[in-house]
Amino acid sequence: MATLGGIIAGKAIALGLVLLACWVAGGESRGPIFGAIRAVRHGLVGTGATVFDVTNYGAKADGKTDNALAFIKAWNAACHSNGPAKLVIPTGTFLSGPVVFQGPCEGSNPITIEVQGNIIASTDISEYSEDGWFWFEMIDGLVLKGGIFDGQGQTAWQYNDCKHNSGCQHLPVSLKFNKVKNTIVDGVTSLNSKGFHFSLTFSQNFTGVNLNISAPGNSPNTDGIRLSSSDRINISSSFIATGDDCIGIIQGATNVTITQITCGPGHGISIGSLGKYPEEKDVIGVHVRNATLTNTTNGVRIKTYPGARQLHASDIIFEDIVLNNVKNPIIIDQNYGSHKVIKPSSVKVSDVHFKNIRGTTISDLAVLLSCSSSNPCDQVELSDINLSYAGTPLRNKNMTSSCMNTKPTFSGTQNPPACQ
Ligand SMILES: *[C@@H]1O[C@H](CO)[C@@H](O)[C@H](O)[C@H]1NC(C)=O
Ligand SMILES: *[C@@H]1O[C@H](CO)[C@@H](O)[C@H](O)[C@H]1NC(C)=O
Ligand SMILES: *[C@@H]1O[C@H](CO)[C@@H](O)[C@H](O)[C@H]1NC(C)=O
Ligand SMILES: *[C@@H]1O[C@H](CO)[C@@H](O)[C@H](O)[C@H]1NC(C)=O
Ligand SMILES: *[C@@H]1O[C@H](CO)[C@@H](O)[C@H](O)[C@H]1NC(C)=O
Ligand SMILES: *[C@@H]1O[C@H](CO)[C@@H](O)[C@H](O)[C@H]1NC(C)=O
Ligand SMILES: *[C@@H]1O[C@H](CO)[C@@H](O)[C@H](O)[C@H]1NC(C)=O
Ligand SMILES: *[C@@H]1O[C@H](CO)[C@@H](O)[C@H](O)[C@H]1NC(C)=O
Repeated sequence: MATLGGIIAGKAIALGLVLLACWVAGGESRGPIFGAIRAVRHGLVGTGATVFDVTNYGAKADGKTDNALAFIKAWNAACHSNGPAKLVIPTGTFLSGPVVFQGPCEGSNPITIEVQGNIIASTDISEYSEDGWFWFEMIDGLVLKGGIFDGQGQTAWQYNDCKHNSGCQHLPVSLKFNKVKNTIVDGVTSLNSKGFHFSLTFSQNFTGVNLNISAPGNSPNTDGIRLSSSDRINISSSFIATGDDCIGIIQGATNVTITQITCGPGHGISIGSLGKYPEEKDVIGVHVRNATLTNTTNGVRIKTYPGARQLHASDIIFEDIVLNNVKNPIIIDQNYGSHKVIKPSSVKVSDVHFKNIRGTTISDLAVLLSCSSSNPCDQVELSDINLSYAGTPLRNKNMTSSCMNTKPTFSGTQNPPACQ
């Protein structure tokens, strides 16, 4: 049912316009719009925004009723109102299937969605398209605040066959932002997403702060935050424990700042994978500072596929990072996803800085820079690297570094010793 969300949104947009027309025509005394007006008169508004409470549009916090249509009705009323608007999902547990919150909302910028309660996802995956559960699209000035979004992925993970099937269909993303501008997502918890927790595409100026993301370490492809084709992204002060990359920065992500992240379990903070698909865009400007990663399979990583896809990954800084019991603390892998190199990677990796990275590793190969033989990595810097080995005692072996097709510059402490 790839279009269910779209159909619901389409119907509800039409309905919203009808209601708006009633309101303009003086219909203050009837219909869901009445709820909005009453809310304003009762002083629920501090910021001058008109409040649209989903329970006035038929939503029920009984954990059983599917509230998708009520949410979209409330959204359309908020989106087509005049002046700043606030959609409120109050305390309680609301069940919902897929929902598309679509703009543009010309008259109501900023538009805030405040979630005070829990939203749980319906578990019948045939209701969902690959696109996701909550989908925010074509909105300028969205603020999403609070709430717990529980994707109930435990019931869906068994349908993920991506380990064996390279053409597998991904399970739905819990919170997907597409073509949004000037967005703030603050204090949102995402639990047990079916697919990725958050994804961002074709957007500009996005801030994610105080996010709490969690799913079991063995849940499949539950990436915390996936960023692509977007400029000016700022993720900070967030806690991510999941089954795949805590943050994946993929093609077309530019001007990305990531600070104060706690990650683990998970696969670490990764740029890539890059170079698998045609038309991928460069990744330029990724600054990761002040992160702590614990029990992750990778620490800070750049991964690219072998093959002919040409693009750049550059202006990358990983700085002030603490790693605890991490398997591959510092890794550039330009032969990702392949056991045999058919054609070396055509992704050019340059201007990469690993600075002040400390902690413990459980593998003896603590620094692995495996660059492409046809496109060596340029301007790689390692400064103040202080890792110690915390795995099973090594026999006649010390922790090492390995560098292929790159000549990094070194400064300060180098534990393991710099590669030759
Ligand atoms: C980015 O978005 C935020 C939140 O909407 C806004 O306050 C800020 O002015 C925007 N920055 C620019 C440069 O537009
Ligand atoms: C994140 O959410 C989980 C589950 O609700 C909770 O147990 C945990 O305390 C939260 N962590 C933070 C840092 O808020
Ligand atoms: C990123 O967002 C945080 C929290 O809103 C803010 O403190 C920080 O200054 C922002 N950083 C950048 C580079 O915009
Ligand atoms: C990064 O941001 C700067 C300043 O806003 C801008 O000039 C530049 O074009 C952006 N980079 C990319 C690759 O979009
Ligand atoms: C890094 O984190 C520490 C402790 O959490 C904090 O005191 C410091 O200001 C942070 N630095 C940056 C650059 O965010
Ligand atoms: C890391 O793994 C150890 C050993 O399994 C465990 O005791 C610890 O609680 C884990 N820490 C985190 C933050 O997951
Ligand atoms: C490196 O880390 C070890 C273990 O934490 C510590 O004892 C040592 O002082 C550190 N070295 C430097 C130069 O910071
Ligand atoms: C391991 O490092 C120590 C101290 O640098 C050195 O004495 C020893 O020979 C090294 N062992 C091997 C097997 O390289």
